[in-house]
Amino acid sequence: MLAVIGGTGLTQLANLDVSHREVLRTPYGDPSGAVTFGQIGGKPVVFLARHGYGHTIPPHEVNYRANIWALSRSGARAIVSVASVGSIRADLKPGDVIIPHQIIDYTWGRKSTFHEGRDCAVTHVDFTEPYDGLLRQQLIAAAVRVGIPVSDSAVYAATQGPRLETAAEINRLERDGADIVGMTGMPEAALARELDVPYAAISVVANYAAGRSDSRYGIHFDAIQDVLQESMGQVRTIIDAMVSGE
Ligand code: HPA
Repeated sequence: MLAVIGGTGLTQLANLDVSHREVLRTPYGDPSGAVTFGQIGGKPVVFLARHGYGHTIPPHEVNYRANIWALSRSGARAIVSVASVGSIRADLKPGDVIIPHQIIDYTWGRKSTFHEGRDCAVTHVDFTEPYDGLLRQQLIAAAVRVGIPVSDSAVYAATQGPRLETAAEINRLERDGADIVGMTGMPEAALARELDVPYAAISVVANYAAGRSDSRYGIHFDAIQDVLQESMGQVRTIIDAMVSGE
């Protein structure tokens, strides 16, 4: 069963034929909200809104461990994570849809592993390729089938938030090799890897990052909502196509 984590702009999957919702408890606390079970084109899918259904949980307060644990325990065999990002590169424009291939983690103070506590052996997971290659290819192939252009690679910088970055911070991220910036990609990806659940991300460019292009003198939030609404429709179409295999 596929799990979808929806971010800003995607608090539900319009084409999900909902069967039921479950409030799940985990050893790590409460997930962001009830987990929604249903079907897309007859195939089972489970959905969770990362920021809660009322969009009240900021990126640094999301209980990533509870979310990933709950989805895994619900029977998720793969997780597709949807999130909005800022674009550092001029050629990645607001509205563009991207399947990133790498991550640089700048977050701090988040509970970022299941492998901790006195009774837990020290464990290191391989994270050379943070996203699952097959799942990425399935997303890219689905986008091609439905004729939605996607960028098939980008380095995602995960920042702490909830504030946006300074222009100098974005320059630094670019020097580090980052193409896009968001606040929720980590530790989500690493936690999925720890539980051995294949994980890939769909990033939607909401805005140019601080100091870039039309965000040169500031980021204007009024424009972001419209951009996201349209692109999240495309994201839904890609997910539907991937799930139904058509
Ligand atoms: N920075 C960080 N996270 C974001 C941005 C941004 O500019 N836009 C959307 N999520």
